[in-house]
Amino acid sequence: MREYRILPEAEMQRQNGFRDKVKELSESRKETLGRPLMAYVQTFGCQQNEADSEKIAGMCRAMGYEICYEPALADLIMVNTCAVREHAEKKALSIIGQYKHLKNAKPDMLIGVCGCMVTQEHRKENIKHSYPYVDFVLGTSSLHRLPELIYTKIKKGKRLYCPEEKEYLVAEGLPIYRESSYRAWVSIMYGCNNFCTYCIVPYVRGRERSRRPEDIIAEVKELVDAGYKDITLLGQNVNSYGKDVRSEDGEMYDFADLLADIDKIEGDYKIHFMTSHPKDASHKLIDVMAESKHIARQFHLPMQSGSDRVLKAMNRHYDTEKYLGTVEYFRKKIPDVTISSDIIVGFPGETEEDFEATLYMLEKVRFDMTYSFIYSPRKDTPAAAMECQIPDDIKGERFNRLLALQNDIALEKNKPMEGEILRVLCDGPSKNNDNVYSGRTEGNKIVLFDGNESDIGSFVELKIVRAETFALYGEKI
Ligand code: SAH
Ligand code: SF4
Ligand code: F3S
Repeated sequence: MREYRILPEAEMQRQNGFRDKVKELSESRKETLGRPLMAYVQTFGCQQNEADSEKIAGMCRAMGYEICYEPALADLIMVNTCAVREHAEKKALSIIGQYKHLKNAKPDMLIGVCGCMVTQEHRKENIKHSYPYVDFVLGTSSLHRLPELIYTKIKKGKRLYCPEEKEYLVAEGLPIYRESSYRAWVSIMYGCNNFCTYCIVPYVRGRERSRRPEDIIAEVKELVDAGYKDITLLGQNVNSYGKDVRSEDGEMYDFADLLADIDKIEGDYKIHFMTSHPKDASHKLIDVMAESKHIARQFHLPMQSGSDRVLKAMNRHYDTEKYLGTVEYFRKKIPDVTISSDIIVGFPGETEEDFEATLYMLEKVRFDMTYSFIYSPRKDTPAAAMECQIPDDIKGERFNRLLALQNDIALEKNKPMEGEILRVLCDGPSKNNDNVYSGRTEGNKIVLFDGNESDIGSFVELKIVRAETFALYGEKI
């Protein structure tokens, strides 16, 4: 018997009670106004937050709101915030600041702030004192309580600051309003136990808790049956899926087991997942991927730094030798695997030598893509209190050197793809040119091609005719 930490059904029922009451109120407002009520959900941060926003939108619809994409049209604005770097917090605060005018023009409008930023006590206080027109604040542990908050706010009129739950649990069964009809997120676990010294996530997302495999498999199956083509399984460290689960008889069910079971679902689809922590990426997982039919040949394995000394100070629990071993095993088992990484530059105490070790690792591993970040001190994390913080100009200069090297490598990796025939999932007209269509390969590389509307959401076979650093160019065959 495995014991998963799921929010009690009684609490979900209690929230459903609030949901129904808000729906009644929305219906009567709709009649008075002669139009439906509108909700606008704005998302900052990672895929986990995007997935949460789809739940927020789902709950809003269940409460009688329609979703709109223009804040000025909204009767309810939900800002789902991120705290991973200072820039993310500044952006969210600046947007919340701009909503003051909307609220002045439409005093009945409700504004709620949720997500990682406001799971921090000092940010909750910040909103309380500096943004008096924000109606309610709720952190990541209490997202399921949105109906209760909206109902209480409408009935009592007071501003509300939902306290964090004592224990962070999995809320099953929240409605999801998905943005896309062919790409989907599926959270398989929440929270993080790793406490990398630079990172705020464990403080704002609580401890790791896994969803039940049967719930995940049922959700993926439903998506595949509904025609979804690309499904990304989400967790801060998917490799520790199942490790938080108490089991009387010691029976284990890990991420590789989950992938193997998902792969049995029949249909034409690909499974991606993120993020993998290098300390836990097992051979068993790689073997399952190599033998699978539906698991994409793509792997995002954040290295963070190429210096063993810095990795230790980051509390990452692996060294470059272990990292290279994992990459090597991957390429042996799946030679055409696409590997990407996250890199932080300017971690406290990073010397020129440490930084050069990162450049060296980039040359050695030859990632297809990297997402690079300038270290941003986060309040109350160990790294923020470390001595030898790196000055901004040095961080910036290292960041640019890193990008320049990675751009060269990405181009070198992409060039040999010219002439290859690839299956690409089409997303629609590209951002910059309506006549050019854009899609993504199994390895998540962008391909531009001459497509049409009927390609959107379908796999298209393309011959790659030109490769550049950030995109491939294809022709239909
Ligand atoms: N759980 C994932 C990623 C979480 S955050 C993982 O472990 O890889 C996404 C990325 O943001 C991290 O991989 C890291 O590269 C970066 N990041 C996290 N905290 C940061 C900080 N304080 N400053 C700069 N980058 C940071
Ligand atoms: Fe942050 Fe590390 Fe957890 Fe990733 S594994 S979320 S970087 S603490
Ligand atoms: Fe940001 Fe929270 Fe994701 S801090 S990166 S939105 S888990």
